Amino acid sequence: MNGENAADGRGLTPRLAERILAAGADVITLGNHTWARDEIRGYLADAERVIRPANVASGLPGRGLVVAPAADGTQVAVINLLGWLFLQVPINPFEVVDRLVDEARREAPVVVVDFHAEATSEKVAMARWLDGRVTAVIGTHTHVQTSDARVQPGGTAAITDAGMTGPHDSVIGVDADLAIRRARLLTPVRLKPASGDVRIEGALVECDSASGRATAIRALRVPVA
Ligand SMILES: [Fe+2]
Repeated sequence: MNGENAADGRGLTPRLAERILAAGADVITLGNHTWARDEIRGYLADAERVIRPANVASGLPGRGLVVAPAADGTQVAVINLLGWLFLQVPINPFEVVDRLVDEARREAPVVVVDFHAEATSEKVAMARWLDGRVTAVIGTHTHVQTSDARVQPGGTAAITDAGMTGPHDSVIGVDADLAIRRARLLTPVRLKPASGDVRIEGALVECDSASGRATAIRALRVPVA
């Protein structure tokens, strides 16, 4: 699960991370809001199943790759990367992804990449670049689920954006009136999370646990309230 908006829309706290893991998530990934809460720094330094994007400045705590067992015992590697387009990153994700994938595949047959990025073009390019080398490339960050879930020819499942678990009666999770005011007036507005039409969104990937090849993917959308 990507948890970078769990703390009232920005960042993740250690307490929320523990709650999400206790609720059943195996690994939590993060994104451009990783550092929004100061208390996450020390937690990330020691966290075993919470990772942040790999392509952040050196010297920051945490890591961008983790291997954890799935429910059936299969080892699953998870890689977290930030896109370069429209996000401020010091390292192009394509500069580091090959090394991370090689490292992941030495330790686990199944490799999942959370590519946290703004631009559809960059996300599709990453999915194609990794085709045949990882199980799935799951896009996050835009909060808008795309209708392009597919298994590519090499056996890598991909979706440009898995969508948002949260209030969809909103502007990507934010109270719509406040988001519209900011967009219209281009002045600072204190944004607040919305509350209506909560949905769970994500993607379900089926794969061969020995080879890591994906066999199916579908986008998930479940109304909650
Ligand atoms: Fe984000």
